Amino acid sequence: MCGIVGYVGSQDAIDVVIEGLRRLEYRGYDSAGVAIVDPAGGMRTERRAGALSNLDKQLAEGSRIAGNVGIGHTRWATHGAPTDRNAHPHVDCSGAVAVVHNGIIENFAALRERLESAGHEFASDTDTEVVAHLLEVEIGSTDTDLAAAMRAVCSQLVGAFTLVAVHRDRPGVVVAARRSSPLVVGVGDGEMFLASDVAAFIAHTREAVALGQDQVVEIRSDGYTVTDLQGGTTDGQPFHVDWNLAAAEKGGHDFFMQKEIEEQPTAVADTLRGHLVDGRIVLDETRLAEQDLREIDKVFVVACGTAFHSGLIAKYAIEHWTRVPVEVEIASEFRYRDPVLDRDTLVVAVSQSGETADTLEAVRHAREQRARVLSICNTNGAQIPRESDAVLYTRSGPEVAVASTKCFLTQVTAGYLLGLALAQVQGKKYEDEVAADFAALEAMPRLIAQTLSTMDPVRALARELAGSETILFLGRHVGYPVALEGALKLKELSYMHAEGFPAGELKHGPIALIDDGMPVVVVVPDPGARGVLHDKVLSNLAEVRARGARTIVIATAGDERVRRLADHLIEVPSTPTLYAPLVTTVPLQVFAAAVADARGYDVDKPRNLAKSVTVE
Ligand code: AGP
Repeated sequence: MCGIVGYVGSQDAIDVVIEGLRRLEYRGYDSAGVAIVDPAGGMRTERRAGALSNLDKQLAEGSRIAGNVGIGHTRWATHGAPTDRNAHPHVDCSGAVAVVHNGIIENFAALRERLESAGHEFASDTDTEVVAHLLEVEIGSTDTDLAAAMRAVCSQLVGAFTLVAVHRDRPGVVVAARRSSPLVVGVGDGEMFLASDVAAFIAHTREAVALGQDQVVEIRSDGYTVTDLQGGTTDGQPFHVDWNLAAAEKGGHDFFMQKEIEEQPTAVADTLRGHLVDGRIVLDETRLAEQDLREIDKVFVVACGTAFHSGLIAKYAIEHWTRVPVEVEIASEFRYRDPVLDRDTLVVAVSQSGETADTLEAVRHAREQRARVLSICNTNGAQIPRESDAVLYTRSGPEVAVASTKCFLTQVTAGYLLGLALAQVQGKKYEDEVAADFAALEAMPRLIAQTLSTMDPVRALARELAGSETILFLGRHVGYPVALEGALKLKELSYMHAEGFPAGELKHGPIALIDDGMPVVVVVPDPGARGVLHDKVLSNLAEVRARGARTIVIATAGDERVRRLADHLIEVPSTPTLYAPLVTTVPLQVFAAAVADARGYDVDKPRNLAKSVTVE
């Protein structure tokens, strides 16, 4: 997610804006920029790829920027690589309007086409730039004020956005709008602030105003005005910020991992946004023709750790929908096993960072063998997507905690998108079937949020079990990769031994491990899942319980048959069978973080681990 700052007041705007962007650096970004309105007329816009220090250097080279009105931005690239030309702010043809943006404008391509045919010239590859030109059109025609122009523009946009704009001929004013993307107003004494989160301005004021959906706000040094898109005056929700800066960066949570777990509904919704266009599933970037995808007769998914677990889930979906065989391989094993690859093989590389050495080398091996490569990645411009033939970007925003949570759910989501795209292009699914499956996916963020709202008993159980020596995790079908992921989370955060198994494997060895009182987590499928699955897992659950296990059961709410076998029952909403991991994983993430916290460990930075493993 990008960082956004706006300011109007008596201080030098450049100082307040740069300091605010620095407070938002923790969010992660790949470029930064500012636009400051000069009281003597005109506007100065500076922007640079890379760290804020690059922008600082550029600002230091020029004359000091005067002015008490300004905006700033740190960008986490979605549309368009992280380069100077794609850095925000973006301006219109005349350079009179500057705008910064967080979010995704789904209909930007059609808007850009319309604007270009009307003679507008674009200078970037971003979706954001269309807003600058649309504001130019709205202001130009009737010399409309900036807030009215913003309202008119927002009515034309589809997607999620926080927009903040200034105009060189409208000094003393910053205008912003939000839809499904964060924006707060900071209310100072003779000065006003705008930001993506309060960390940017709590050094100046702790009085804030949260804005609602489709609201436009104009800030001036003496106050602010909130309107709806029809221009009617309305109110934001004032609140007092009592967090310290460290807590503000974590959104009030104790650690980034919890903040990122809570961000999962938005991350999944953002990853889905814009991928169903005129009834067709579209990828983010592709040099593959539809015919290339039609010829795919084998899929390999290569990844490491949590990303590997997302690939195991993708296997179930892709094979069920397309009948194309899928192998899922640990990236560090892939090229050494001399896999059988050819032009009709699609190698799918899943990587949050896009820089994992094992996965990158697997991609290079696949390309040497002439296979097609598609990457699922969270980092625009990273090495793995750059070396791929096609890309599906997860849109989690930066993931600060080493233990991957929101990126796992969005990797799983991207795996479903890929399965639907392949099924559609290979004629295995009709348009209406794809639309139904996509609509069911779009309902998942709400079910994830519903699951998140019932996690207090999970944290209490974690504190109770924090002293355990080992915990086993069992699951079948898509519940098996979830069991593996739950075990990995617990291992990497609490340093406790944990192991995930296919529930059906119990009798082939692991059941010998069951000791009296041993905690065993069992992921039980929805009773409506593929008939026998539910019964089979219940019998596995009975087997471990009969041998003294303390059973922690993740099951669909209302599944009464499981209740008598569960020492601790964690209920999740009912979902389509294949989509269950998007809710059943959540309690295991929360559990692992709470065990580590109870043990007094650094939840965000577990020992011996790095966020991106760039060595083999
Ligand atoms: C997950 O919690 C771990 N941090 C780790 O397994 C991670 O998923 C793995 O290293 C792959 O990283 P990548 O997605 O950046 O390639």
